[in-house]
Amino acid sequence: MRAVAAFLLVLCYLAVTHAWRCNEGPRLYNVRQIDAGQGKVIARDTYGYVYFLIGSSWHRMSTIRFNHASIGPAGLWATGSSGDKIYKYIAGNFVISSGLLRQLDAGGNGQVVGVSSSSASWCLRSDLASSYKGSGSVSWSNLSRVLKYISCGKYGCWGTDTSHRIYFSQTLSPTTCGNSRWSQISGSAAMAEVGTDGSVFVVNKSGQLYQRLGISSRSPQGTTWTPISMCMPLRHVSYDLGNLWVVTTSGLLMKCTH
Ligand SMILES: *[C@@H]1O[C@H](CO)[C@@H](O)[C@H](O)[C@H]1NC(C)=O
Ligand SMILES: *[C@@H]1O[C@H](CO)[C@@H](O)[C@H](O)[C@H]1NC(C)=O
Repeated sequence: MRAVAAFLLVLCYLAVTHAWRCNEGPRLYNVRQIDAGQGKVIARDTYGYVYFLIGSSWHRMSTIRFNHASIGPAGLWATGSSGDKIYKYIAGNFVISSGLLRQLDAGGNGQVVGVSSSSASWCLRSDLASSYKGSGSVSWSNLSRVLKYISCGKYGCWGTDTSHRIYFSQTLSPTTCGNSRWSQISGSAAMAEVGTDGSVFVVNKSGQLYQRLGISSRSPQGTTWTPISMCMPLRHVSYDLGNLWVVTTSGLLMKCTH
């Protein structure tokens, strides 16, 4: 597996020519999902274990198995692989919080957003997200939009539904979780990831990667999608501080820079 993986990756960076230069990421096998925020990087493998990147090595953070993990201004949050429990990382441990979610995102302006197994979307206000100490219950607000995947950044939140339609909300308030008005954006994607700086990347059903161009405070939803060719179909991506992390459907990890 290891030799084959390394060989495939070498073919991969030789084959791809575009503005992004990709290299094999720090070695971790059977990667399913990655999230980068505020300079930190976490990854989840096929078994559900979450790893934290220190230098060039990955350190397993817990024996709990997770479905999704995210790190950002709201802290480090994850959803359990059985029962959809929500965890916040506090003092070296994943501590259960109230609510049930499949996927969540801590990359917005302090709020946590997520989607449940019924495809309802939810938001935890920034003050509650930051102050949760591991006891008592927190109350999540219903965002009233059916979504399968959600992610927030500087200029707003992006979501995709089970039909791969793409939605954008510029107005969701991180401090109240109110006022989310969603508009559909052209294109089709299985997942959309927003960097804390507002950069947006999507992976479509066939594993192809696109970046949203033209995003700014005057044009928060951007203008067009531009494809970024990769030599293998992708499962997941995350972007932070100039590094684009990509996970292939075969579980390989690459790090790309502009
Ligand atoms: C959340 O909002 C959606 C859409 O308005 C609604 O269908 C769903 O029942 C709500 N869920 C809960 C648990 O309130
Ligand atoms: C994914 O992208 C490829 C390449 O542009 C395109 O041919 C395909 O139709 C897209 N699939 C979906 C589901 O959007």
